[in-house]
Amino acid sequence: MTGEHAPTPYDTIGTTYAQTRQPDPRIRDAIREGLGAAKSVVNVGAGTGSYEPPETVLAVEPSRVMIAQRPPGLAPAVITTAERIPLPDKSVDAALCILTIHHWPDLAAGIGELRRVASRGVFFTWDRDVSADFWLFREYFPEMGAADYQKAVPLGRLVDLVGPASITPVRVPHDCVDGFLGAFWRRPAAYLDPVVRAGISGFTLAPPDELSRGLAGLEADLGSGVWRHRHQELLAMESADLGYRLVAAEWGERPS
Ligand SMILES: C[S@@+](CC[C@H](N)C(=O)[O-])C[C@H]1O[C@@H](n2cnc3c(N)ncnc32)[C@H](O)[C@@H]1O
Repeated sequence: MTGEHAPTPYDTIGTTYAQTRQPDPRIRDAIREGLGAAKSVVNVGAGTGSYEPPETVLAVEPSRVMIAQRPPGLAPAVITTAERIPLPDKSVDAALCILTIHHWPDLAAGIGELRRVASRGVFFTWDRDVSADFWLFREYFPEMGAADYQKAVPLGRLVDLVGPASITPVRVPHDCVDGFLGAFWRRPAAYLDPVVRAGISGFTLAPPDELSRGLAGLEADLGSGVWRHRHQELLAMESADLGYRLVAAEWGERPS
């Protein structure tokens, strides 16, 4: 680990991240496809190294606590942000950004850096206009839903910054291994588990009164059978479109 950086939110909210946020093989495949034939990758907002492909030459991550949870053998990690990537111009084939861009204080500067160092950008993010309809937000945590909507990067804004891009829906399997916010759409009781919630920034940042109100409502509806009755159709689905999207943009070849 190299570099210096002031403490960041994930130094506090990321302490158990590696416990619940293991990579899901189906999402890994979608990301692999987005990376194409890239032979060198910078993983930006790399966190604990989930989904980090073997071609990764550098991980960029501001949180020491997240870096400390990276398994041995991964690429070297530098403590910095997307806005300051310590790589020469066009030195890697691809920049990979997984569930991170919504945390960047200066998105335009971060994307500018990706475009400077990489020939391709691959982003796993979400379409807030689809995720706003998720039952968890709509029925139990409307304030969290509103905060999520505010925090999300609108896909139109991302495309304005990255240029022409392919946008591919990534459906969430019903048994998704990676415990991100939408992962438990068919396993609602998981949201009652504090260990699961600790790995989801939306929950860790939610106001305590909304949290206890929403959890009490969900617990009651699960106990009474109301949730099951209301969401019969979900129980028959193998995967769901909760708005997650893979966005890939080409920025020109590396000079040979
Ligand atoms: C939800 S985690 C995702 C981590 C990892 N990409 C994964 O998929 O497991 C978001 C990460 O973005 C990092 N992050 C926050 N602000 C950042 C910035 N300005 N530049 C780069 N990464 C940042 C956080 O520290 C955190 O590790």
